[in-house]
Amino acid sequence: MINPVKGTHDIMGKEANGYNDIVYVLSSVATLYGYKEMETPILEHTELFSRGTGSSSDIVRKEMYTFLDKGDRSLTLRPEFTAGIVRSLISNKLYADGNYPLKYFYHGPVFRYERPQTGRYRQFHQFGVEMFGEDSPYADAETIIMALHSLYALGFKNVVLKINSLGDEETRSAYKEALKAYFAKHIDDMCSDCHERLESNPLRILDCKVPSDHELALSAPKIADYMSENSKNRFATLCKILDENEIEYEVDSALVRGLDYYSEVVFEFHYASDKGEALGALGGGGHYGGLVKELGGPELCGVGYAFGIERLYSLLTELGIMNHEDPSIDVYIVPIGENCLQKAMTIALEVRSLGYLTEMPLSNKKVSAAFKAASKKGASVALTLGEEELANGQLKMKDMETGEEKVIDIVNIEHELDEHFGAHECCEGEECHCHEGHCSCHEE
Ligand code: HAM
Repeated sequence: MINPVKGTHDIMGKEANGYNDIVYVLSSVATLYGYKEMETPILEHTELFSRGTGSSSDIVRKEMYTFLDKGDRSLTLRPEFTAGIVRSLISNKLYADGNYPLKYFYHGPVFRYERPQTGRYRQFHQFGVEMFGEDSPYADAETIIMALHSLYALGFKNVVLKINSLGDEETRSAYKEALKAYFAKHIDDMCSDCHERLESNPLRILDCKVPSDHELALSAPKIADYMSENSKNRFATLCKILDENEIEYEVDSALVRGLDYYSEVVFEFHYASDKGEALGALGGGGHYGGLVKELGGPELCGVGYAFGIERLYSLLTELGIMNHEDPSIDVYIVPIGENCLQKAMTIALEVRSLGYLTEMPLSNKKVSAAFKAASKKGASVALTLGEEELANGQLKMKDMETGEEKVIDIVNIEHELDEHFGAHECCEGEECHCHEGHCSCHEE
């Protein structure tokens, strides 16, 4: 037996339905805010992430799935989407008509070589958004509000929004110097990764998970004390916009995020429960000023976020908000004998074209086995077709719940099924095939 790769998982049944529902809700909310879908390749040149996501990030240093292809090119399975979306923006010159802001949403698998644990996989899924070309705290605020709107639309209630500002270039270089001076005094007691971080990017030390290093980080200088006037004002404006829209948030000065491209505001969404917290953040993001330029594009800022779909799903099921069973089937067709299989298939196609979820045995099966399959699949109706019925252009229609059976003419199949399933007039006078109680004709 070949086992699945460590840290990967197969998605099926309720979970697959749940993922589809999550993507549907998140896409619908993003569409309401004017975002368009974008799909970029899973494979990119490694350089995209080393330059884009950042050489001092743990993701690039330790977690990428990187390999040489047969043409000796170094390729990487995307560890995040943002760098790829920016690459696409530049490759396709999407910025060329100056029609800003440009807004994209995306979803799909992401790969990071992390230690697998609760809520942490090596292949997982993200849904995210990026907005380009609007350098205003209103763009940051709308992005944060859209993320919250999305979480509420999924059914979450106790969302904790944490925000911080990493300031502009001036702020960050002054702050990095201060952190360097502070941590240099303690470096002998710190982990080997932090030795490296002290040189490459001391901001990363604030994110260190080693308990004694974390303890030291709590007393480190705070970025608010190094903030330039511009960044201070920008963050104050953002907070004011959030206040005016009655958005609750916590300012967390230790929030630095694990990717190198951020500037100004960064944010994360957590779920307020001890159990939920163990999963880590539901999502996070921030503003990035220099990434588009760094990757060879024009001077264009961006802001965005990504949610982890596994984490959203796991919490939504734990909270009892999501439990999407496979749909039971409407009609099961039971052909009696080989000769009736062909006609049964034609009838199945016709019944499906009427909008009914329909199955049938695809080889010659005993009638008892076919009825067993019909009830196992939760069929509401069984349509039996034997030689005699075939000769008369008829079918036996059985209500699987009451056991009542009657003979119907094949030409009347639509009418008989509509009667059984309670189809009603609702689509501007046309008969609709939505089932009673589940009519979605007028839903958006
Ligand atoms: P990130 O914080 O690295 O941000 O990932 C976003 C979300 O992906 C996390 O909050 C978490 O829910 C989920 N996630 C991360 N790692 C794992 C894992 N190993 N297993 C399961 N879920 C995970 C980004 O990726 C940025 N690109 C977000 C962004 C977009 N910033 C600006 N624009």
